[in-house]
Order: sequence, then C-alpha cells, then structure tokens
Amino acid sequence: MRMEKKHNKLTALEREKISIWLAQEIGKREISRRLNRSDSTIRDEIKRNSFDDTIRWYDANAKQYSENIGSFSNPELLDEFAKTVGGDKKVLDAGCAGGRDSHLLKNLGLQPIGVDLSKSLLKVAREKYPAIEFRYGNFLNLPFEDEIFDGIWAHASLLHFETTDDIKRALEEFNRVLKQDGVIHVFVKQQLGKEKTSVVSDKLSGHDRFFQWFTKDEIINLLEEAGFTIINLQDNYPDPADRKEVRWVLALARK
Ligand SMILES: C[S@@+](CC[C@H](N)C(=O)[O-])C[C@H]1O[C@@H](n2cnc3c(N)ncnc32)[C@H](O)[C@@H]1O
Repeated sequence: MRMEKKHNKLTALEREKISIWLAQEIGKREISRRLNRSDSTIRDEIKRNSFDDTIRWYDANAKQYSENIGSFSNPELLDEFAKTVGGDKKVLDAGCAGGRDSHLLKNLGLQPIGVDLSKSLLKVAREKYPAIEFRYGNFLNLPFEDEIFDGIWAHASLLHFETTDDIKRALEEFNRVLKQDGVIHVFVKQQLGKEKTSVVSDKLSGHDRFFQWFTKDEIINLLEEAGFTIINLQDNYPDPADRKEVRWVLALARK
C-alpha cells in the first residue's frame, strides 16, 4: 500500500521530468543523427563539387576536354592582348589547358609559357605543341620569379576558385610575376543571377564543374585592389562556345 502510494507519488512527480528527459535524449540523438548525416552530405557535396574536384575532372578527361574546346578561341581578344603587350615579349598563359591559346599567342609573335594545375592537360599541351614550354603550377603559388613576364593571359581560368580570397591571392601572384607596366587579360564568367558560385554541367564538359561568377564592378575592384589599372573593361561579352546562357566579363589592365 505504502509502496503503491510511493510509486503513484513518484510517478506523479517524475512523470514530467522523465518525459522531459526522454524527449531531450530522443531530441539530442535525432539532432545528432541528422547533424551527422547532413555533415557528411555537405562534406560529400563539397568534395564532389569543389575546385579540387574540378581539377581532378580535367585530369581524368584531358584529351576529350582539349578537343571540345579546341575551336573556341577568341582571335580578336588575343590580337588586342598581343598588340597591347607589343613585340616579341614573354607572356604567361595562365590556365593553358591543352595549349590552344599558347600556340595562338606564339603565332602572334609572343613567347608564351603555359601554366596549369592539371598534369594531364599539360601532357596533352606538351605533345601537341612541343616547341612551347608548359609548367605545372597553381595560380596561388606560381613557380616563377618576380617580374619576369610582360603579359598574363588569364582566359577563362580564374573562375574555379571557391572563394574571393583565393581570387585576390591569385591576382597578387599575377602582379608579382608581371613586370612593371606589364599587361594582364582576365576573362571570367559573368554573374547573371543571384548565385555567386554554382556547379554547372555544360556542353564543353558534360560534367559538373565548380564555377565562380563575377560582376563588372567586382572585377574592377579586384583588379584595382591587386594593383592594376584598367585599360578596357566589358561585360555581357558573348560566349566563345555560343552558349546563350553564358556571358563573360573581360578586362585588360596594366600593372
Ligand atoms: C575553363 S578551362 C580554360 C582553359 C583555357 N584557358 C581556355 O580558354 O580554353 C580552365 C583551366 O584553368 C586551369 N586552372 C584553374 N584554376 C587553376 C589554378 N589555380 N592554377 C592553375 N591552373 C588552373 C584548369 O586546370 C583548366 O585548364
């Protein structure tokens, strides 16, 4: 009787506490289960769709990708760059891929060196254009001494970084290896919607690649902050591969 009373009393007093405790425990486990799941989902997502993954994709598909982009050069922009740099000057093709533009720059009388982070694309470039030097390297830490180039051709290459900080660091590196009065050409995808970055599968790759998009004002700020003076700037530049949904921001600037 006493026990029953105590039991009833305990039940009455502790029912709420127990149910709160239980709810908290169940809640914590559920939250932690969900957190763990979403953590790993986010991690997988980042791993699948990051800068590194994009470079890995170039490595695994170098031959095919080089063939796909082989005919999409911009002769008028190459001409303008070559004329602004002037003469038989040393230029860096930053993000040279399979060497298409290095070859065209050489045909315009310049002395190009190509640099890229994809070893397989570099292999394609070296096989196709053995007379041109191609180097392995990252824009964030270029394998060149200070002030050795008269021009930098960064065409459709400064656009896979995940953060604006990386873009800033790359532009600082470009500035470091460029001689005083040297010329830089930057050609990046224009931000048309709200998203600053996205993962895009397009006709050039047929695979997800990570892209950062830019506005004209942003490019002005980035270049000026990195110590360049703008010579020519255009947005809404048509896509060399004729994709209607893609527009480009083009900048020519001087150190
Ligand atoms: C979209 S493709 C463009 C290739 C070529 N410039 C063109 O216009 O067709 C981008 C190229 O830049 C290279 N790239 C991107 N980020 C780089 C980095 N941080 N350092 C070196 N190469 C990079 C990629 O490996 C790839 O070859």
